[in-house]
Amino acid sequence: MNTFCLVTGGSGFIGQHLLANLSSHGYSAVVLMRRISEFPLLCQRVRELGGNDRMLSVVQGDLSLPDLGLDAAAQRQVAGCATLFHLGVQFAWGLSLAQAREVNVEGAQRVARLALQNDARLLMVGGYMLCNGQHLARVGVNTRLPEATDWPAVYRRVGGYEGSKLEAHYRVHTEMSGRGALTVVHPATLCGHAETGHILPGQPFAELARQLIERRLAAIPGSRQHWLPLISVDFLVELIRLAAFDSRMVGQSLLALDARTPDLRGLVLALGEALQVRPPHRHVPMPVLKALLAMPGLPRLLQVEPESLDFIQRERFDMGPTDEFLRRHKRDWPAIEQAIGASARYLKATFYAAS
Ligand SMILES: NC(=O)c1ccc[n+]([C@@H]2O[C@H](COP(=O)([O-])OP(=O)(O)OC[C@H]3O[C@@H](n4cnc5c(N)ncnc54)[C@H](OP(=O)(O)O)[C@@H]3O)[C@@H](O)[C@H]2O)c1
Repeated sequence: MNTFCLVTGGSGFIGQHLLANLSSHGYSAVVLMRRISEFPLLCQRVRELGGNDRMLSVVQGDLSLPDLGLDAAAQRQVAGCATLFHLGVQFAWGLSLAQAREVNVEGAQRVARLALQNDARLLMVGGYMLCNGQHLARVGVNTRLPEATDWPAVYRRVGGYEGSKLEAHYRVHTEMSGRGALTVVHPATLCGHAETGHILPGQPFAELARQLIERRLAAIPGSRQHWLPLISVDFLVELIRLAAFDSRMVGQSLLALDARTPDLRGLVLALGEALQVRPPHRHVPMPVLKALLAMPGLPRLLQVEPESLDFIQRERFDMGPTDEFLRRHKRDWPAIEQAIGASARYLKATFYAAS
């Protein structure tokens, strides 16, 4: 079996853990990086996460450039990769349509074309909102006929980041349809490593913990039915690796979401306990919060981005196909409460120590 892989987004949160997982299972990975001078630091991080950095090499590239910015030597290097993992993304709230599309949509299409060109399998990381049919219909995605979707209108409703994630998903499917081997993994919001708690600041979970520590979360958004589905990063990358090399997953997608994640109130309480801060108990109804955040200046004042609220929702998901996949691979969901607690303690000790 060809064990050479290409990974985009390898320096990111999930990417670092994926590289540690792949390399410790005997896979060689070429990492596509914008700044190859940061490769030694990435190798050190992968080692710290339990990976084998001798299995890693690097090519300079950029998702926003034609042909991914790969020169001839880099193209030869990646041509030997049988599996492409696409994780690279521009993640920020408030991105314009043009900014978000350049990296997240066109970049994903370029990776799909590279997979087709090299007859490689593509494992793309999407997001769990793509498994929420009601949400997709609400925001105007035509799932039956995606090319008929008014994408600029979708971007206006959900913001640049989420809009571009949704559009990229359908564009890559069109690109690969009937021609290439595509598997998509849709993760829930990430919490840290179930044992060490390792997580990076800036991740949405880390932001929620920061709001609690800084006592800026005066009320719990939504009702008792709202939740923020989670998955721990170590279990996610295990699922990504298993899915990428499972022939039955060609043309399939996998929802990577721990259905036992507590509701948002339970999550806030668990975070409060681990962080040793008093959590809020009152709820603020979602329409009220959204109306408040629509007022100029308030998102900045409250330090809450309206786009981030879409990920807090009421819908529950059919986990039957994922559970079947786990049974086939003899894996079981690890305890999510442990990952929540470990992540909160890690954040407090590592980044929010002074708070
Ligand atoms: N984190 C979550 O909670 C979550 C939940 C669901 C889905 N996802 C999805 O999972 C994937 C990985 O997410 P993450 O949280 O690991 O992301 P992340 O930590 O923000 O990392 C993003 C990665 O993309 C790279 N990148 C950005 N712009 C690039 C460009 N123009 N060319 C090449 N590389 C570029 C970054 O490299 P630099 O080092 O050069 O900046 C970095 O390695 C994404 O598809 C994301 O949408 C994440």
